[in-house]
Amino acid sequence: MRGGLSKEELMEDLARRVAECRRCPLFKHRRRVVVGEGNLNALVMFVGEAPGYYEDLKGRPFVGAAGRVLDRLLEEMGLRREEVYIGNVVKCRPPGNRDPREEEIEACSPYLDEQLEIIKPRVIVPLGRFSTRYVMTKFGLRPAPISRIHGRPYEASSPYGPVIVFPFYHPAVALYKKGMEEALFEDARRLRAVLSERGYI
Ligand code: URA
Ligand code: SF4
Repeated sequence: MRGGLSKEELMEDLARRVAECRRCPLFKHRRRVVVGEGNLNALVMFVGEAPGYYEDLKGRPFVGAAGRVLDRLLEEMGLRREEVYIGNVVKCRPPGNRDPREEEIEACSPYLDEQLEIIKPRVIVPLGRFSTRYVMTKFGLRPAPISRIHGRPYEASSPYGPVIVFPFYHPAVALYKKGMEEALFEDARRLRAVLSERGYI
């Protein structure tokens, strides 16, 4: 670990910096930053988009309606929330839950990069098109529309060894787009098969 610090210490240091961050205008609107939470030794890391209303209120990722969908998906995948890590590309809530802007993603993503370096997950699951584009590009994979690439494993390499990127639709689509819930759950079963094949669950 960098400077002999433990994963916990590195993540605490990161959380302190995020709490004070003013790198992009989103700091003006936030009540709490949402750094992320979970197991720092997780094999599987989920990367959402940005905090919503309840996340901003509580300072925790995926605790609103989309979070309840994610909880059910985790169950379908054979994973417990405590054993994975859940974060976001953008750590402050965009006003009115609008999409994060390119420059906000650019400003905030170095924190996600640090989290990936600390946790070193074997499987990275971007949720939704913004996180998918960011994660695919970061790992040298060709980004493509989420409707084409969701629900499949993409092998890539990282500084700490091989990783799998497994893109998902954003869980919130199950709440407003008919038919999407079934697509999400089908992808959850596919991920479960990949995890099981590799002996991760
Ligand atoms: N949607 C996200 O992308 N992230 C959260 O933390 C909550 C909702
Ligand atoms: Fe900083 Fe990210 Fe919040 Fe922008 S969204 S202020 S970059 S923590």
